[in-house]
Amino acid sequence: MSARAAEAWSKPPAVPETHYVSGLVYSDESVFADEKRRIFDRTWHLACHESEVPEPYDFRTVDYVGTPLLVVRGADRRIRTFFNVCPHRGAKIVHELSGNTKRFTCFYHLWSFDAVGACTDIPRQEGYQTVGLKKDDVGLREVRTEIHVGLVFVNLDDQATPLGQYLGKALDAFEGPMTAGKGLEVFHYNRAIIQSNWKAWQETNLDVYHEFMHVLLRRTQMTAAPLEDRKVTVHPNGHTSIAGLRAKYEYYKGMQSRDDRLALPTLRADDFIFGTVFPHVAVLARGTTMRIDVVTPLDAHRTLIEWRGLGVRGDSAEDRQARVRHHNQYWGPFGRNVPEDAYAAEAAEMGFGRGAARFQVIARDEGGSGQDDGMLRAFYGEWSRRTGRPAANPSNAPMA
Ligand code: FES
Ligand SMILES: [Fe+2]
Repeated sequence: MSARAAEAWSKPPAVPETHYVSGLVYSDESVFADEKRRIFDRTWHLACHESEVPEPYDFRTVDYVGTPLLVVRGADRRIRTFFNVCPHRGAKIVHELSGNTKRFTCFYHLWSFDAVGACTDIPRQEGYQTVGLKKDDVGLREVRTEIHVGLVFVNLDDQATPLGQYLGKALDAFEGPMTAGKGLEVFHYNRAIIQSNWKAWQETNLDVYHEFMHVLLRRTQMTAAPLEDRKVTVHPNGHTSIAGLRAKYEYYKGMQSRDDRLALPTLRADDFIFGTVFPHVAVLARGTTMRIDVVTPLDAHRTLIEWRGLGVRGDSAEDRQARVRHHNQYWGPFGRNVPEDAYAAEAAEMGFGRGAARFQVIARDEGGSGQDDGMLRAFYGEWSRRTGRPAANPSNAPMA
């Protein structure tokens, strides 16, 4: 087969409709509007790890697809989340990324709120007496917040399925590493805006085949354990996980083997376990350390990625240094893998952003092992179900 002229290039790939994706899922503004309304407004979003708000009155702000959020630990140690917007005239209240305070005061007219979202002060409140407006009427908007294996999830939809039911068994493999013993804490937080549709980043976490792109994975991962030992699991609600991955760190110059003494609870130092939560979270544990990605669209062509690195709470300085090194060799901003993935996502935007690329093929079928595309298909299956648009042809009229 030779190169194709325009008409042939526009034809869908000759594979089942579930095994390819139209470029319109990245570039069509009406698709993006539906994603916001039908996916992001209704699914559970990973706001932070509980160790990021360890003490009463610790807070953290989050920008969630156009909705500013404020996560606060109360005096009762419960973590609550609110819209980070003022009920007075709508201004964003807290502008710092994190901190500790008993009182959130809006800079605009100095209305104040406490850690449970109640309005505690309105300057010159007597001006509202005529109409009878009281502090009790103007609390913050509380957002559903639930915690699983230390991960703080929020949901804008008060009617959404509870978190445990939504996740099912998707994160079961992380229960031991994340909760046994002293638990974990975040030691690394990094964020970047990449020039691509949000799905292009999440695809790097769903696409096992792309380990060919990373020289580090070609050496340390593809040769460490038989490809047939891998097992992709597709969970309900579009979540995925993969088991059976290992690494031989000594196969890459400059990396030494990981010490089993530093392995996270229930893991071996050379284990690599991996899970994704639909739509936009990936959780990875590489024996001695963990990485969590949260992928948040800013618009159809720009995406905020937040990366967290985790180690064991109460690590000695020496052990922590080793974990940080292990994390950064793969996943730090100057690590071997993460910058390569960022370029892959931006390269996909170069192809799809203006329509030059028409389709992508997600048709590898190795029976759920090896480099199967089953995780990509699970993602797009759920995406189609939720948006009401087939990923192979999203311009088909949405279902009611
Ligand atoms: S907008 Fe916040 S006090 Fe007025
Ligand atoms: Fe990658």
